Amino acid sequence: MNLTIVGPGRAGMSLALAAAAAGHAVVGILARTAEAAEQPAGSVGAAALAIGDELPPSDLVVLAVRDDAITAVAAALAGTVARCRAAVHVSGLAPVSALDPLADSDLSVGSFHPLQTLPTPEAGATRLAGSWIGITTDIPALKERLESLARSMGAHPFALPDEAKATYHAGAAAAANFPLAALAMASDLFEQAGVPWEAARPLVEAVIANAFELGPRAALTGPVARGDVATVKGQFDAVYRDTPEWRATYAAFVQILARLAGRVDSFDDVIEQWRVPQEER
Ligand SMILES: NC(=O)c1ccc[n+]([C@@H]2O[C@H](COP(=O)([O-])OP(=O)(O)OC[C@H]3O[C@@H](n4cnc5c(N)ncnc54)[C@H](OP(=O)(O)O)[C@@H]3O)[C@@H](O)[C@H]2O)c1
Repeated sequence: MNLTIVGPGRAGMSLALAAAAAGHAVVGILARTAEAAEQPAGSVGAAALAIGDELPPSDLVVLAVRDDAITAVAAALAGTVARCRAAVHVSGLAPVSALDPLADSDLSVGSFHPLQTLPTPEAGATRLAGSWIGITTDIPALKERLESLARSMGAHPFALPDEAKATYHAGAAAAANFPLAALAMASDLFEQAGVPWEAARPLVEAVIANAFELGPRAALTGPVARGDVATVKGQFDAVYRDTPEWRATYAAFVQILARLAGRVDSFDDVIEQWRVPQEER
């Protein structure tokens, strides 16, 4: 495919490098100014262009700008895409209608969301192989082309219904970000205990593997899953003593785990008691 990338940031250049490595031609890179596009365009042998320039003949134009800029950038591109066949944005949340300003241009439109964190172009391009990519479009021919683009980069395409994107994106954020709250708390407790944080790595990696092999609910082990209230009380007391700033969070996590384990009744009292500072009990 001939690809043009609009917005040479983390996602745009990760896709550009991965597509080039897969044998596609990246023919244009558009930034706010042609000067800003020069270095990224040089890295994939593309023409450096500014928004407003006529786009080169492209099978696909990829809008990789921030979510809140997609519609404005689509409007700015509208008169310049006569030689292009299709356009996608790469947001997991925004609907395909964010590209409505391109509707009169006779382009097929959709979205192409890599379910991956793309922190730099190089790391992102490497990580795209093996990642899943959500594809949203009503146009069968475009769907096929996007699936084939994803596969050529070593990624797994999946159909993502437009009306489900916000729910899916909330799920992606929960999966990618929420575990970090628990890990930040855990690393503070390890530090207090004088235990190296690295020691937790095999345990944490096994838990993540279990969550995919068994499902997140069936993977739950530990004192809450066993209904071992005395052990959890001992943990609460240690958290209160050594990391009081995590007390409420620890109690909230235990409450969630008790619900998942079907043991709300066993832990209600200890959680209530824990909410009251030790000296007032
Ligand atoms: N990074 C990820 O992990 C990731 C993963 C999946 C999907 N995405 C999606 O990728 C899209 C871009 O995110 P990102 O993380 O790549 O952001 P980013 O690194 O900030 O890149 C955005 C790029 O778009 C350019 N841009 C913004 N407004 C523009 C405008 N009006 N005209 C021309 N260029 C403009 C920016 O240029 P300036 O620097 O001049 O503003 C920058 O080069 C978002 O829809 C995001 O949801 C990102």
